[in-house]
Amino acid sequence: MNLGHALIFGGTGMLAGATKWVAEHATHATAFGRNEQRLHRLEQTSAALGTRQLDYTDSEQLEQEVQRAYDKFGPIHTVVAWIHGTAPGARSLIVEQIDRMQADVWQLVTVRGSSHDVQQIKKEQNIVSEQCRFIDIQLGFIYDGRVSRWLTHDEISAGVIRGIKDQQAVSVVGTLEPWDERP
Ligand SMILES: NC(=O)c1ccc[n+]([C@@H]2O[C@H](COP(=O)([O-])OP(=O)(O)OC[C@H]3O[C@@H](n4cnc5c(N)ncnc54)[C@H](OP(=O)(O)O)[C@@H]3O)[C@@H](O)[C@H]2O)c1
Repeated sequence: MNLGHALIFGGTGMLAGATKWVAEHATHATAFGRNEQRLHRLEQTSAALGTRQLDYTDSEQLEQEVQRAYDKFGPIHTVVAWIHGTAPGARSLIVEQIDRMQADVWQLVTVRGSSHDVQQIKKEQNIVSEQCRFIDIQLGFIYDGRVSRWLTHDEISAGVIRGIKDQQAVSVVGTLEPWDERP
């Protein structure tokens, strides 16, 4: 699988395993985050991975970083985004900017937490793009019929990798049912 030029937002923590996999399957990959130590540690795990310090709540800085990636490494093919509700406009900004910069098709892989805000999802469903393929991966929990627990970091990364490989528009890692049995 060739993911082309890839950008990863929110991939330095629990998604570090998935970020490494993306870098290994990309022509070039950049992971963004605020914490320098985390970025440095992650950069050591793959020769194909570059990192940049970014607070994605700063729209101007976000736009500059996406532009910089494009100018340096060419059209963007894959974006993985685990973006918290602190930056509600970040996804639409990324989609609009990449669509504006390039004619190439690309994919946006959005990772969402278990209790993701329904209003926010609705707003994001209004993001329209003819160039972008949207892949949504929702994180659930593990339930064996008796006991439930949250996903481990390894399970989260493995689920995100599977979601990218399967190319399904929507998938769930673990389960969201029965919702009342969540940990
Ligand atoms: N269903 C589930 O099982 C489930 C679902 C969600 C979460 N969780 C658990 O909840 C825990 C906490 O989740 P978390 O999201 O805090 O985990 P995390 O993955 O450790 O951290 C969030 C990621 O987003 C980045 N980030 C956050 N705010 C940012 C900003 N303003 N600008 C740029 N990057 C930003 C962080 O980088 P920087 O720190 O460098 O900024 C990091 O890469 C995890 O340990 C996970 O196990 C479980």
